[in-house]
Amino acid sequence: MPKITIGRSDADMEDFGAELGTGLLGKHLVGEGSEAHAANPIRMDIARPHVIGVFGKRGTGKSYSLGVIAEELVTADESVSQNIATMIVDPMGIYWSMKFPNEDDAVLLDQWDMKPDAMDIDLFIPEGQAETFRERDIPFDKTFTLRPSDLSSADWAMAFDMQLNEPRGILLERVLRDLREDYDNFAVDDMIEYARTQGDFDEDVRKSLVNRLMAANDWGIFSAEGTALDDLYTRGGLSILDVSSFGNIRGSWSVKSLVVGLLAKKILQERMASKRLEEIAEMEGTQTSESPIVWMIIDEAHQFIPNDHKTPASDPLLSWVKIGREPGVSLVLATQQPYKLNADALSQCDIILSHRLTDKSDIDALKEIMATYMRYDITTYIDNLPRVKGAAIGLDDNSERVYSLRVRPRLSWHAGGTPAAIKEGRE
Ligand SMILES: Nc1ncnc2c1ncn2[C@@H]1O[C@H](COP(=O)(O)OP(=O)(O)O)[C@@H](O)[C@H]1O
Ligand SMILES: [Mg+2]
Repeated sequence: MPKITIGRSDADMEDFGAELGTGLLGKHLVGEGSEAHAANPIRMDIARPHVIGVFGKRGTGKSYSLGVIAEELVTADESVSQNIATMIVDPMGIYWSMKFPNEDDAVLLDQWDMKPDAMDIDLFIPEGQAETFRERDIPFDKTFTLRPSDLSSADWAMAFDMQLNEPRGILLERVLRDLREDYDNFAVDDMIEYARTQGDFDEDVRKSLVNRLMAANDWGIFSAEGTALDDLYTRGGLSILDVSSFGNIRGSWSVKSLVVGLLAKKILQERMASKRLEEIAEMEGTQTSESPIVWMIIDEAHQFIPNDHKTPASDPLLSWVKIGREPGVSLVLATQQPYKLNADALSQCDIILSHRLTDKSDIDALKEIMATYMRYDITTYIDNLPRVKGAAIGLDDNSERVYSLRVRPRLSWHAGGTPAAIKEGRE
């Protein structure tokens, strides 16, 4: 059987072969519609950084497929997985279930010669939400916080939905500038206190900013020291960042984006710094332990990096997309509405896994980036997909090929199918 490995260059194919440093995505679907049957395995390169888009309308298997990719990253051969750190950004709060084996699909797994298996995950929640999680008996492993001093005034302004040139914005800039001059770290409370004492601003301006800052404190994501990046991800590990708990907060997506934006920025900075050290060491002929390639897997990605406006995560994620290959960061973006995803991010995907899509605008968005190598119209490929769970088309920019495939069943339990308090839908 010919081996299919998407996302792998010819040179790497020669050096590594078709299996080492790859993950099993699913099986090639041969034949059309109801006649289709699963043939040879389709593997995906995980040895190199990628930008991957996972699309499909609601309920077609996007979140499930993200879990498959994460499983492949952490269960890869140790020589590979030890050079990878994986983080899932979980805005719906569904990935905690990866702690449990997928007994539900035991029969299906058996057909694939696989067995249900729990993943060793680290589930992170915002520190300020720990009490609520405990009260509701929702298990978590660790908490995280961010440093207010790491956020730029533009980040704050975006999260607060205010302009930097309005009086509150000007006050905000001053607070940040002055506190930064005097301290390395500060808490939101320090910002509040300082804002209150700026007598040359009108009282209602001060009050308005202070109110926003007090609300920010309630998000439960800030502390003066913040969580160190090293604590947030580990070699060979899978961290799940549960940011679902801002459900009731107005503008909750801004808060989620603030978290993701800051992390993306810091991870890229760290990767770039260690890349430089690695290069120096190589020149000097010494050894350094390479820092792992970070894979960030983002569900509901159009909320973080949308096409029609900027969020605090937009620029940091765009940097990943544009320059991430060199320092070694990978991004997996899932959305039910590719046309709502930032067009640059969409066009930079080198691998696309698309489950069934029906909306014309979404199909058109895909068409636009689909290269000339497609023999048929994308609609034809999608229409020919059999109605089985996990059916998708895979587009590989590297080999310029399109495949129909069935994504493999999950080893660990997928809770996405069970009704959650937060509804996924068009907003
Ligand atoms: N590859 C697959 N194999 C078997 N079942 C799947 C597969 N993909 C999805 N499913 C089923 O479809 C349901 C919906 O998938 P999900 O990923 O939650 O959809 P969405 O696209 O909305 O994120 C899952 O709960 C699961 O039961
Ligand atoms: Mg989903």
